[in-house]
Amino acid sequence: MTTWMQELPIDDRVDALLLEMTLAEKVGQLNQPANVSPGPDRDALAAGRIGSSLYASGALGGNVRDEGLSIRAIEQCQRIAVEESRLGIPVLFGRDVIHGHRTVFPIPLGLAAAWDAELVERLCDVAGAEAVREGVAWTFAPMVDISEEPRWGRVAEGFGESPALSGRLGMAAVTGFQRHIGATAKHFVGYGLAAGGRDYESVQVGENTLRNLHLRTFKAAVDAGVLSVMASFNDIDGTPMHANRRLIREVLKQEWGFDGVVVADWSGIGQLVDHGVAADARDAARQGLLAGVDLDMASGVYLAHLESLVGDGEVPPDLLDDAVRRVLRMKFRLGLFDDPYPRTTADPIGPTAATRALAREAAVASMVLVANDGVLPLSDEVESLHLTGPFVDEGEALLGTWVLDGRGADVSSPLVAFTELLGDRLTHTDGRFSDLAAHRTRAAAVTVALLGEHPSRSGEANSVADLGLPAGQLEALKQLCGLGKPVVAVVFGGRPLDLAEVLRVASAVVVAWHPGTEAGPALADVLFGRREPSGRLPMTFPRSTGHVPSSVHARATSRVLDFTRDAWDGRYLDALTQPQLPFGHGLSYTTFRHGEPVASASEVPLGGQVEVRVPVTNTGERAGRELVQLYLHDPVAEVTRPKLELLDWQWLDLAPGETGTAVFTIGTDAFGYFGRDLTWRVDQGLVRLITGHDATASAAVEVRIVAAEADE
Ligand code: NOJ
Repeated sequence: MTTWMQELPIDDRVDALLLEMTLAEKVGQLNQPANVSPGPDRDALAAGRIGSSLYASGALGGNVRDEGLSIRAIEQCQRIAVEESRLGIPVLFGRDVIHGHRTVFPIPLGLAAAWDAELVERLCDVAGAEAVREGVAWTFAPMVDISEEPRWGRVAEGFGESPALSGRLGMAAVTGFQRHIGATAKHFVGYGLAAGGRDYESVQVGENTLRNLHLRTFKAAVDAGVLSVMASFNDIDGTPMHANRRLIREVLKQEWGFDGVVVADWSGIGQLVDHGVAADARDAARQGLLAGVDLDMASGVYLAHLESLVGDGEVPPDLLDDAVRRVLRMKFRLGLFDDPYPRTTADPIGPTAATRALAREAAVASMVLVANDGVLPLSDEVESLHLTGPFVDEGEALLGTWVLDGRGADVSSPLVAFTELLGDRLTHTDGRFSDLAAHRTRAAAVTVALLGEHPSRSGEANSVADLGLPAGQLEALKQLCGLGKPVVAVVFGGRPLDLAEVLRVASAVVVAWHPGTEAGPALADVLFGRREPSGRLPMTFPRSTGHVPSSVHARATSRVLDFTRDAWDGRYLDALTQPQLPFGHGLSYTTFRHGEPVASASEVPLGGQVEVRVPVTNTGERAGRELVQLYLHDPVAEVTRPKLELLDWQWLDLAPGETGTAVFTIGTDAFGYFGRDLTWRVDQGLVRLITGHDATASAAVEVRIVAAEADE
């Protein structure tokens, strides 16, 4: 492209380029094969037939490591595209950089437990900075799917069940990544509602629920400027998302004005044939393009058929041009035309001391203390400690699902971290219940049992029918706990598990997710009280597998169920209905008392704001952090609304005896919702603002929304 063009606005440069392109070159821009390499793909690159490529270990890349990126191969491919193709359009290289690149942070569900958008932004910034140096220009993250289905393995990859929390963390991730590389909000949309929690299953959901819950996080990502959105594998009420013109073209692109790229999920367009809605690959390509899916990941059907579809008049040329424009626009936005090659430097990419410190901070913040009879925090002077369980000496397994470039060898394991601290006061066993494990438990002042899921039991295509611990673990724990010595259970995993029995037998329970590169030191920090545990659950932990779906945003029903009462008045004959551990739950090493919320006014005009203040006192003997959560209950609306909807939250750092005040400023738009006609509305009338420690909170203040003040 001639230099004078560099001065033009991006859309003018895109238009100028488009004018020069042949139909074949346009179609090439919409083609994204996996793992291109300079040898076999030389001709296609030089002919402008490969607009983008993703580097992945395969269709289920989240659970299969690969050999890592070859900066040299990426650079060579780019040179062919830029120097040998007719128009010199650079290739857009993508990779799943999900919760870190070389430095691995906790899985997204764990990050959500930190309830800290600024932290997410910082670590996505690090991940983007590491990835861009290896030639990655674009990641397929954040996943902002909302799910109330812990059987679904992919809850590990998202920020939990609340649209408010997930939306805000998603925006932070977009901002952090996009300082270096493009981000993708995925999977659009409803994927978390897969029937039975079985990955890829059909979804039944009405547009009202989509708008009030599932689309909200995508809208937030679009508002944050996300450069791309990925279509999801599921169908909604019979229409696969890769053919869903209504939601992609009409809602996302037209209604929201999204001008970035809609990328298919892996072979998602070609798989319209497997869904049984397309007769063949050509028909699938036609439907995908008409629906508004711009870039064909891995199925090759656009490359094979779009030229003839346009030639035969089955795909309007202006729709093709629109898709090409979006891909080119993204390349310009990423600066690829001016700076197409990997930004390699001599310094090691990571983990470095600084990124390890951030990984440790994030892992500490993600851990949730869910029960404690007083055994925690452990004393540095503890006489003896027995560390047991399948994760004692693990590195790789503590990184979590979706780690392509992090390495197990970089992980500080619990054994290493605890040995550093305790030396020969530490004994360990591998987790099978054995005479040795019993002997060491009896001999030790305290035992720490590291239990839970291996990452290969979470993530894509890893759904489970039973939320219990993997076979044998609970039995071993019970045996240990029966020996009369305190046992702390640390549960790793990618989903809410059924912890009923663990909570019954263990002295303390910590939910540690998959913590990443600094797993061991972070766990030691929390258990030994060098850092206060402050994680709060971003998903409800149901009482049993039979209780799912179970979430904070259950809608009001005809016969009222008192969610907060611990009584047999629920929906099951054979079990309590309340969650085992509610959304938002998490303990500290100190205690807090929440006072009553006070509103700045009892009436707020539409468009105005109300301030709610909540005093909170640290009633214990240690300094600590409390998360004050603010929920909305709207007693009368046009559609049934959640009994509780998280609106906002605030951290308070309090010294022993200190009282602090959480101050929430809420605009009346926060009380809005999509009504029966699917338009956004904010009603006049009463709303209840509920504050407290978790989703069982009941302290409330009522505010009446009244007509807007007339302009003077
Ligand atoms: C399939 C997954 O569903 C998606 O999340 C991922 O980004 C792509 N594969 C690419 O690896």
